[in-house]
Amino acid sequence: MFSFVFVVNVEAQAAVFDVVRYGAVADGKTDNTKAFSEAWNQACQTRGSTMVLIPKGTYLLNPIIFEGPCKGRTGFSIQGTLKASTDKQYFGLGYWINFRYVNDLAIDGRGSLDGQGPSAWPYNSCSKASSCRVLPTSLKLDFITNSIVNGITLIDSKQVQINLFACQGLKISNVKIQAPADSPNTDGIHMGKSIDIEIFNSEISTGDDCISLSPGSRNINVHNVLCGPGHGISVGSLGKGPDEDDVEALAVRNSTFVGTENGVRVKTWATNYPSNVRNLTYDQIHMVNVRNPIIIDQKYCLTGNCKQGSSSSQVQIRDVKFRNIWGDSTSEVAVDLECSQSRPCQGIELNNIDLVYNKGPARSYCSNAGGVALGRQTPPSCL
Ligand SMILES: *[C@@H]1O[C@H](CO)[C@@H](O)[C@H](O)[C@H]1NC(C)=O
Ligand SMILES: *[C@@H]1O[C@H](CO)[C@@H](O)[C@H](O)[C@H]1NC(C)=O
Repeated sequence: MFSFVFVVNVEAQAAVFDVVRYGAVADGKTDNTKAFSEAWNQACQTRGSTMVLIPKGTYLLNPIIFEGPCKGRTGFSIQGTLKASTDKQYFGLGYWINFRYVNDLAIDGRGSLDGQGPSAWPYNSCSKASSCRVLPTSLKLDFITNSIVNGITLIDSKQVQINLFACQGLKISNVKIQAPADSPNTDGIHMGKSIDIEIFNSEISTGDDCISLSPGSRNINVHNVLCGPGHGISVGSLGKGPDEDDVEALAVRNSTFVGTENGVRVKTWATNYPSNVRNLTYDQIHMVNVRNPIIIDQKYCLTGNCKQGSSSSQVQIRDVKFRNIWGDSTSEVAVDLECSQSRPCQGIELNNIDLVYNKGPARSYCSNAGGVALGRQTPPSCL
């Protein structure tokens, strides 16, 4: 057992628990889970403000759980690079770095998490099967409250890069998320059952959604985000199973999409499971070469998950405001609002839209969509 050196960080007044003092080796080859666990446990069980410090260098880290509750504010300062294992025995675990049940956690630093995704991507079967094995999420945050994630970089996660489950009061800022456009299901930030989440000043390039909201996401505030490549910022897919919680109060502001498949999207499965989506606001959004800049798709259906055309979505979408959205679409239908026949969209607002198609006039397409068009409408509104 290493005795820890008590260092007072003048600014943060935190007791520092340096992983190297617990035996971590920054050679990129030695597994450091034991040293990291010990540093975490000591920090977490010490009263007052503490900080686990990962200095510069490359640390191999096998899957690990950092669990609370802790006795005070707990920092996790990443200055070096954490490198995930490429050993297949861990691919079924679903996580690489998992924080659970911590209040007042601060994950920050200039360092990065390298998920070593290329080793696992060939094992992704999610495009072929509806129930596929979920490959590890790089940073999995479960039941984390009143906390921040700031400054870190995530590279090449095996699947989702940051996943939030049952979090409340979390600010994610100044993060960089990077994976190739063709990496499978590498959503940047995915969330479910999470409330009061703010994501800002961040850059996300990935192979799936930059940000995705699943059931139970409420009061989500996104601003100053650069997304691309990727599949855009998505609500859904919803309506996949029974008893899904509603999604409400999402605001996306002052953000830019570059070369993405979608810009702002809501998608629901064409199934019989009911839920509600309400109060979404998209404002000051710049689209640069985006295939579907504005899209509501309630006919979402992939082979094996539902029968094409067999049913109509029971997810009710209402009060969705698209305001001040401009730029270029790489498809003709720049505004695509395909709502459910049995639950038509209500209260859609198209307000000051200026989207051009590079090969001719852009169009808008509506089915079962009700609402108002205000201000400039390029393409002409179909509402
Ligand atoms: C809609 O969502 C915003 C947050 O984006 C929130 O401030 C507002 O209170 C919500 N409005 C309603 C009617 O729920
Ligand atoms: C909007 O985003 C740009 C950069 O994309 C930034 O310079 C500007 O400060 C942001 N404006 C607001 C009001 O946040």
